Amino acid sequence: MLAVRFESLLDQTLAELRAGALLREPDDGSARRSVAAAAERLGSELLDASSNDYLGFAAGSVSRETSASAGAAASRLIHGSTVEHLRLEQELASWVGAESALLFSSTYAANVGLISALGVKGSVILSDSANHASLIDGARLSKAEARVVPHLDLSALSEALEAQRGARACWVVTESYFSMDGDGPDLAAMRALCDRHDACLIVDEAHALGVFGPAGGGRCAEAGVKADILVGALGKAVGTHGGFVAGSERLRTFLWNKARSFVFSTAPSPRLADLSRVHVQLAREADARRAALASNSAQLRAELRAAGLPLAPNAFGPIVSVILGENERVLSAAERLRAVGILAQAVRPPTVPIGAARLRLTVKATFTPTEIARLSRAVSEACAS
Ligand SMILES: Cc1ncc(COP(=O)(O)O)c(C=O)c1O
Repeated sequence: MLAVRFESLLDQTLAELRAGALLREPDDGSARRSVAAAAERLGSELLDASSNDYLGFAAGSVSRETSASAGAAASRLIHGSTVEHLRLEQELASWVGAESALLFSSTYAANVGLISALGVKGSVILSDSANHASLIDGARLSKAEARVVPHLDLSALSEALEAQRGARACWVVTESYFSMDGDGPDLAAMRALCDRHDACLIVDEAHALGVFGPAGGGRCAEAGVKADILVGALGKAVGTHGGFVAGSERLRTFLWNKARSFVFSTAPSPRLADLSRVHVQLAREADARRAALASNSAQLRAELRAAGLPLAPNAFGPIVSVILGENERVLSAAERLRAVGILAQAVRPPTVPIGAARLRLTVKATFTPTEIARLSRAVSEACAS
């Protein structure tokens, strides 16, 4: 009886998703193979405009001999840190100009652990309406009062900061480069507002690290702004896997004790930590790739704009979203692109607001100008009807 109820619950949920063109079919790898086959038939290469491997380091990893253990075997509170964890954390802290860093098994885990631990009773979280699910989930798990601030709206933020006077603490939470819109806040203005109201600025640089700023140190570094707490990702431009929180030594000790996704989870693989440190060094030194990425992004944006496509306003950098609105329209555009050997992500609610479904294109440093031209032509054709 229970099993029947369970099956019908799954069926009903999946049917609802299907009816709204919101069902994601689990991928068995065949989609990618068929896109590669389509490209080959047309005598071209598969063009992947769907991953976050902005600098091309995930696809073309370094080979690294190491004696580091494959698994950490327990959480760090139980089994201790390895030299690979500590060295990676030093490298990350130095990259973003922080006193210290703490490694998490993913950036999702970092955000959930960080925000839920900081959001003590009596504190207020002011969160941009386009913030990533992991920041939202952290706020939901916290005991703080969470208020959503309209996307990039500094005057709304200023009002919300006025209204939180008397709270035990106030956390202003934003991404520095929004993963679905490809836009970003005025970080200097946010810093000034936080200083005026004794609030703490928390910046998720997941999509900005490696891409913007001197040595790829992110948008805070680019703007000369010091976030109180910076979150970074290793699974995007760095090209490996994991996430981290950077800030003061005191913050690190706080998280070591209070971030439940750190305390109650097996530490990341030491072997992976060793590889990640090498990848971070590569990303820091990748000025030539960053320049290629910037010029490729500008070329794609200019060509799509010239073709009259509805691009996200105020966007910049390698995330180029073509906002088509309806779920079915985005799905069929992505399907048409696959037929010509191009992988592009159809992004639908709940990842983006209802009615704002989009084709999310991610530019890579490794694309050639000819490939960008092929991409923009194909996207224009796929979105035409
Ligand atoms: C802004 C932001 N933060 C955090 C994450 C989670 O990163 P991870 O894949 O390392 O868990 C993402 C992932 O897409 C993201 O876009």
